[in-house]
Amino acid sequence: MGQISLRSVCRTYASEAFSLTVLDQADLEIPDSAFAVICGPSGSGKSTLLNMIGALDRPDGGTITIAGTDIATLNEKQLAKFRNETIGFVFQSFHLLPVLTAAENVAWPLYFQGVKRRERMEIAREKLALVGLSDHANKLPGKLSGGQRQRVAIARALVCNPRIILADEPTANLDRKTAQGVLDLMSDLNAHHGVSFLCATHDNLVVEHARQIISLSEGKLHMQVVPTLNEVARHA
Ligand SMILES: Nc1ncnc2c1ncn2[C@@H]1O[C@H](COP(=O)(O)OP(=O)(O)OP(=O)(O)O)[C@@H](O)[C@H]1O
Ligand SMILES: [Mg+2]
Repeated sequence: MGQISLRSVCRTYASEAFSLTVLDQADLEIPDSAFAVICGPSGSGKSTLLNMIGALDRPDGGTITIAGTDIATLNEKQLAKFRNETIGFVFQSFHLLPVLTAAENVAWPLYFQGVKRRERMEIAREKLALVGLSDHANKLPGKLSGGQRQRVAIARALVCNPRIILADEPTANLDRKTAQGVLDLMSDLNAHHGVSFLCATHDNLVVEHARQIISLSEGKLHMQVVPTLNEVARHA
């Protein structure tokens, strides 16, 4: 079984007036140390899928297994712990706390692991340095640009050393040079530290880095595996 596994997953948004099925008995197997992208037009359900894999939203049916755990079997407290230890999130709209500085935002998830403030802040500064924001650690999000806020969100996703990072449009607000820098960082974490990435994206730069390309169409998921250069050479 893959590190992320979906079996017959269904998700329908329903109200009295309408019903919209985003996932219809969808199956997916994402291996360990993946660099996967989810492609699909706006409104096709990419964020919905990420939210369910990250256990922020529950499917109406089917099973989602992450790192061997069927997430439906966890209660709220166990789920919060599981998310904190296993998964890092980069949300489409960042979700930074406006009253905390960049460094405090990055440090925040460590609070739930009982890490003392001084150590938390030290780790947060390390992660901010990784995304090129050492000089902005003490600024409030309101004083940062969109791209800088996005990088703070990426640093925060990294802070607990998760095995899996779920990223919703991680490069959407970045200039190309910064986007390339963020992708280099993600590729390095993937190749040398085995961190899996699952990104919803429209950005070709991200798609070019992917080893698994997942498309969402008519409620089903299809995964295409991109051969490595070695594999291409072997079959030539
Ligand atoms: N809470 C909700 N209630 C009702 N419908 C919703 C809800 N959230 C999303 N939808 C609908 O479900 C569909 C999928 O939404 P989702 O946000 O997953 O798309 P997406 O692929 O991430 O789009 P984008 O590329 O624009 O971010 C859309 O048609 C959206 O309008
Ligand atoms: Mg979305």
